[in-house]
Amino acid sequence: MRRGLLALSMLAACGAEEGEQAAEPSEAREFPIFVTERRGSAVEQGLEALAQDAWRRELRFMDALDPGYAFRVNRPRYDELGTRFGPQAWFTMGGQLFTMAFTEAMGFGGDDLPAMSRFHFGERGGPDSRRCSACHWRGGPAGAGDAADNAFFRGDGRTEASALVRNPPALFGAGWKQRVAQEMTANLQQLRDDAVDFARSRGEEVRLQLQTHGVDFGLLVIAPDGSVDEAGLEGIDPDLVVKPFGWKGTFTDLRDVVEDAANVHHGMQSTWLAANEDAARVGEGPPEDPDGDGVEDELSDAQVAVMTMFVAMQDVPVDVPPLESDLVLLYSRGRNDFEALGCAQCHTPSLPIEDTEYTLPGREGDPDLSFDLLTVAAEPRLEPDTLTGELAVPLYSDLKRHAMGEALAESRDDADVLADQFITPPLWGIARTRPYLHDGRAPTLEDAILLHGGEAQASRDAFAAMGEPERAPLRVFLTSLTRGERLTTP
Ligand code: HEC
Ligand code: HEC
Repeated sequence: MRRGLLALSMLAACGAEEGEQAAEPSEAREFPIFVTERRGSAVEQGLEALAQDAWRRELRFMDALDPGYAFRVNRPRYDELGTRFGPQAWFTMGGQLFTMAFTEAMGFGGDDLPAMSRFHFGERGGPDSRRCSACHWRGGPAGAGDAADNAFFRGDGRTEASALVRNPPALFGAGWKQRVAQEMTANLQQLRDDAVDFARSRGEEVRLQLQTHGVDFGLLVIAPDGSVDEAGLEGIDPDLVVKPFGWKGTFTDLRDVVEDAANVHHGMQSTWLAANEDAARVGEGPPEDPDGDGVEDELSDAQVAVMTMFVAMQDVPVDVPPLESDLVLLYSRGRNDFEALGCAQCHTPSLPIEDTEYTLPGREGDPDLSFDLLTVAAEPRLEPDTLTGELAVPLYSDLKRHAMGEALAESRDDADVLADQFITPPLWGIARTRPYLHDGRAPTLEDAILLHGGEAQASRDAFAAMGEPERAPLRVFLTSLTRGERLTTP
């Protein structure tokens, strides 16, 4: 703490008069080294939580003295990220930006947008809120959102009916989710490429059942000339890229989601988005300031990077069975029911993973940034199996899209994904993320199950056919899928 406070006061001395966004690197800009989500003993956690609280209070004082101060100290130069600031500092800075209320002086909103709008105007967005944590909070930092936090995407800017209603998902384990999807993609594409080579060299048709990580993505038929018929694919796009983010499974990379979220929810445009995206997404103004609000470089590349790292470094949810012995029995039965009812066909309990290095590729000449999910991310982290040494991500998802029936379908297709298709949402941590389903319509786990249709109809009906108390074990089991305990101050 002492070091942090000292650094703050020194920075105030040199930063206050300029009031500029792009703070020069300064000797004073030191960060207290803490992570907001470290486990450890309850006493250690408690002391850490109090220290963070004290730090945040000081930061608020500094912001009162010099508005925008907290934003500027969390605006490193990109080249400092690989040298001066390590992963812990990325996490801290990203976390501060994630919880910060963005202001007009920082670039919030746009001249072409209303002051606030619940219903987004096309790809331009709202803005609908001041900070990421306004929607991602339930069940802990970077958590899920309530039904009142639903976002209304790609509408006409005025009516709910025009928009796609989505409930904020929890972001825990996000780095693992991206990594495992990347490995699946690499395998699928390799299988296809090998089959194409084989078909060509033999001059024969090849029928390839595409499977990786125990998940079946349907059939590819490759003609002797190497051309590929994709009609038999299931739950994945013809590019064979597993896109794990968004309810529809349309985003591959966390940085794209973070950048998009900052733009549509807050009108905070990253330098990169401003320079590279079309007017429909960023506004009609000049490339330096497409939203015309007079603020350039609203979110720097480095700020986008640390926010992405903060999300990627979130802890992994845990399975905590009940303590009471009767409940433990129900829990075990529920685990079996989960398999027997066919839930595990889509909610695949775990997906194997090999490479645990999370890499954020540098853009426009910036260096790559990377860290090891196994040793650096917030705790709890995954651990290899003690006997086999193998590692698996307990996601409870196949990262595949499924048709879920009329009742769950949205009013239209979105990003070329059919209206009734959704990617299987992971069930890890599910006990901490209510309400459920893409639009948050289900208040309880049981409601969510009973609303399944389409490909999940048989599974849902088998559950519905069970009476009470037979349904209880499954509910008890799902309730064990939670997030590691820790103390945090708001
Ligand atoms: C108004 C509420 C709201 C705010 C504010 C918000 N989000 Fe989200 N977030 C959502 C919703 C809703 C989704 C799901 C979007 C979809 O499925 O298309 C989402 C999805 C995400 C995802 C993908 C998670 C996954 O597993 O699919 C990430 C990452 C994310 N948000 C990060 C952020 C960041 C970073 C910010 C701040 C810059 C932010 N969000 C602000 C509502 C919000
Ligand atoms: C055919 C694949 C499939 C099967 C089988 C299936 N689900 Fe799902 N499940 C999904 C999809 C896709 C969604 C998201 C639907 C939506 O949001 O509209 C979902 C959503 C859920 C949710 C809500 C998740 C959240 O974050 O809001 C829960 C809980 C759930 N399923 C549990 C189960 C259980 C328990 C079973 C077995 C009785 C089961 N599912 C069977 C695909 C499946």
